[in-house]
Amino acid sequence: MSVHCFTPAGTGFGYRDGVLCAEEVPLPQIAAAYGTPCYVYSRAALEAAYAGYVSALAGRNALICYAVKANSNLAILNLFARLGGGFDIVSGGELARVLTAGGDAAKVVFSGVGKSPDEMRAALAAGILCFNVESASELATLNDVAGSMGKRAPVSLRVNPDVDPKTHPYIATGLRSTKFGIPFEEALPLYRRARDLPHIDIHGIDCHIGSQLLDPAPAAEAAARLLGLVDALAGEGIALSHIDVGGGMGIRYRDEAAPAASEYLAPLLGVLAGRRERLLFEPGRSLVGNAGLLLARVAVLKHGAEKNFAVVDAAMNDLARPALYEAWHDIVTVEVSPGGAAAKPYEVVGPVCESGDFLGHDRPLAVDEGDLLAILSAGAYGMAMSSNYNSRPRAAEVVVDGGRVHLVRERERIEQLFAGERVLP
Ligand code: LLP
Repeated sequence: MSVHCFTPAGTGFGYRDGVLCAEEVPLPQIAAAYGTPCYVYSRAALEAAYAGYVSALAGRNALICYAVKANSNLAILNLFARLGGGFDIVSGGELARVLTAGGDAAKVVFSGVGKSPDEMRAALAAGILCFNVESASELATLNDVAGSMGKRAPVSLRVNPDVDPKTHPYIATGLRSTKFGIPFEEALPLYRRARDLPHIDIHGIDCHIGSQLLDPAPAAEAAARLLGLVDALAGEGIALSHIDVGGGMGIRYRDEAAPAASEYLAPLLGVLAGRRERLLFEPGRSLVGNAGLLLARVAVLKHGAEKNFAVVDAAMNDLARPALYEAWHDIVTVEVSPGGAAAKPYEVVGPVCESGDFLGHDRPLAVDEGDLLAILSAGAYGMAMSSNYNSRPRAAEVVVDGGRVHLVRERERIEQLFAGERVLP
């Protein structure tokens, strides 16, 4: 069996003596101790991904604001906080997670098209770095909320640069047709209005054009469009202190030529060369995606006339990406089948009652019932998008650090599923 190294730095996961390991720990050991399905993250891979950004940004006045939505486990947030990272949040819940995990509020940017007044209040009370404002209505509400607290709200306007990021339509956000950001031509008038609001401080400009971007050109093009605005604003006496270029760098799921952070950022940094503004980045997937896998066990094999099914104990509620986007995740056996089962093409599916509940189609696998499978590159938008559909408790999460395994989220218990529910009197 070939040796897999799933992260650019070669850290994380690989086979040793025919058994897939997370760093130094064989995955069967984790399955035995914590059960399946279980998300397994590699600390070294997380740190290597972060280090890739740090070295790409060396010498620049830059802040990495990890996009919490990609994976919001407190252990992961704490790890990035300890490395000096900031955070990109999109809800009061994410703010609470960041603060609980020891994140620095002064390094938090708050994105999202529908921030509630309560969320604004919480973020103002915490003293975040900046609100990435996405509409005129939000700006007015934020001004009122800040005024009611006797504060001034630091803002960036999230500008929609109308560039095609060339990614899946569900995760493209920088085109004019999406709900995100302020249309390019409306930005200047809105900045003027912001300048005149008593409880608003203009700090920066922001954009985020999409996710799983493999070509660095659209991000550089978006940055160039932003710079045109930044300079026009300066001409009107509105000086910005930072430029936030969002997240979006893609990773390798299958055979994509995923760029290293240094390659992806080079054209963008070229466009931004010599600028005095601080640069903000909001990477999510590229920091955690390849640093995690979903460990599952084959429950049932069904061999049919047309298709073979491997029913595993993980499902679309644990990892929604295949069902939602037809996303492709590599699925590998954890151990070379001891009984020497021959490889057959399998539909790898979960127990959820939907035909769309699949993790992979037509995968050649040599498996028996009871074998362990690993669904790779599941660290981003995996656990974070999980649900309790079919009343399935959420998976456990562990972080492996060298030879040690840390349980960072317990498997959900059945009672927790309906703890907040009441029957009618
Ligand atoms: N900043 C903003 C404002 C965002 O909306 C996002 C992601 C990011 C940063 C981080 O982008 P990243 O570096 O992870 O590409 N659930 C989808 C991805 C949705 C991305 C949403 N926004 C998936 O599983 O592919």
